[in-house]
Amino acid sequence: MKIISKVGLSLMTLCVTGVFAFDVAELNKRSDRGFTPITVKDWQAPDEKNIPNNLFGDTVRYGKALVSETYKYIGPEVADKKMRYAGNNFACASCHQEAGTKKWSGPFMSTYANFPQYRNRDETIGSIEERVNGCMERSMNGKSLPENGKEMRAIVTYMYWLGQGIPLGAKVSGAEFPQVDRKMIMSRAADPIAGEKVYKEHCASCHGVNGEGVKREGKANGYEFPALWGKDSYNTGAGMFRVIRAADWIVANMPLGASNHNRILTDAQAYDVAAYINNYDKPRTVKAGRENDFTDVKVKVPDSDIAPYMDDKTRHQHKFGPYKGIIIPAKN
Ligand code: HEC
Ligand code: HEC
Repeated sequence: MKIISKVGLSLMTLCVTGVFAFDVAELNKRSDRGFTPITVKDWQAPDEKNIPNNLFGDTVRYGKALVSETYKYIGPEVADKKMRYAGNNFACASCHQEAGTKKWSGPFMSTYANFPQYRNRDETIGSIEERVNGCMERSMNGKSLPENGKEMRAIVTYMYWLGQGIPLGAKVSGAEFPQVDRKMIMSRAADPIAGEKVYKEHCASCHGVNGEGVKREGKANGYEFPALWGKDSYNTGAGMFRVIRAADWIVANMPLGASNHNRILTDAQAYDVAAYINNYDKPRTVKAGRENDFTDVKVKVPDSDIAPYMDDKTRHQHKFGPYKGIIIPAKN
C-alpha cells in the first residue's frame, strides 16, 4: 500500500513539473547503450610489480606519474614552456586520489571500459581523450593535451592497464561518487555561512584560512595541500565548482583520511562546506564559453549556475539549492 502511494506521488510530481526540470530519466535514456552492464563489486588496483619492462610498461609508468605528479611534467612551472599544459599546480590525484585507484574518489578502474560514451555537456559521443582534456581545461585550469601526444597516450595507457579484467561497459563499485542525502538537497539550500564554520573546524588547518593551500618548496613540486580557490585552483567550468558534485566528493574523501566507509563529515556539513568554498566571494578563474555547455537544457546538470534553464528557478537556486522543482529523480 505504502509503495503504491509513493509511486503515485512521484508520477504526480512528474506530471506537474515533468518537462520543466532536469530529468534524470531522460539523461538515463540518452546514456543507454543497449545492454545492461554488469557491476564488478570486488576489485583491487592491479599490482605494479606486474608492469612489464618494455615500451608498454614504460608508458604505463609515465601515465601513472602524470596522474600522480602532474605538476612536475605538464604544470605551469615546468622549465620547458611548451610543456605547460596545466594551468594550476594540482595533480590529477588531487581529486582522483591515490593515483586514481581510491574507491568513491573517481577511480579510473572502469574508465577505459566505458568510452566512447554519451556526454550531456555537448550532446555528443565523447572519447576518453576528450574526457581527459575536459579535466585538463577545467579541473586543471589549463589547455588540452594533443590527442596523439606522448602524454595523452601515457595517461590513456595507464587507465587501460588499471582496467585489466574489467569487461567492456562494466561498472565497478565506487566508480561514482557517493551521494549526499537527496531528500536534504531537495528540501534545503546549501548554507555557506554554516559551511564557513565547517571549513574553519575541518579544512583550514591544511587548506589555509584563505583557501590558498600549502605549496612544496621549489619549482614544479606541486602542493602538500592544494588550493581550494584563487588563481591556482580549479576554474568555474570544473565539476568541483558545482555544489552537489563537490559535496558528493567531499563527504567521502575529506578531511584527508576520510573514506566512504569512514566518514568524518555529515552530509549536511559536506553540502554546506561545498557551498562555502564555491561561493561567489571566493576568487577563481572564470572558464570562458560556459554558455555553450549543456546547450540542451533538458539534460543540463541541475547545479549549473549558467542560465537558461527548463524551470523557472533562479541561477542562485540552481547553484545552492533547494533542488525541489529543479531535479526530477529517476523512479526505481
Ligand atoms: C579538481 C578536481 C579534479 C582534478 C584535479 C581532476 N579531475 Fe578528473 N574528474 C573530476 C570530477 C569531479 C569528475 C567527475 C565529473 C562528473 O562526472 O561530473 C572527473 C572525471 C574524470 C574522468 C571520467 C572518469 C570516468 O570513468 O568516467 C576522467 C577520465 C578524468 N576525470 C581524468 C582526469 C585527469 C587525467 C586529470 C588530470 C590531468 C583530472 N581528471 C584531474 C575532478 C577532477
Ligand atoms: C589533513 C589535511 C587536509 C584536511 C584537514 C582537508 N584536506 Fe582537502 N585535501 C588534502 C590533500 C592532501 C588533498 C589532495 C588529495 C590527496 O593528496 O589525496 C586535498 C584535496 C582536496 C580537494 C580537491 C583538490 C582541490 O584543491 O580543489 C578539495 C575540494 C578538498 N580537499 C576539500 C577539503 C575540504 C572541504 C575539507 C574540510 C572538510 C578538507 N579538504 C580538509 C588535505 C586535507
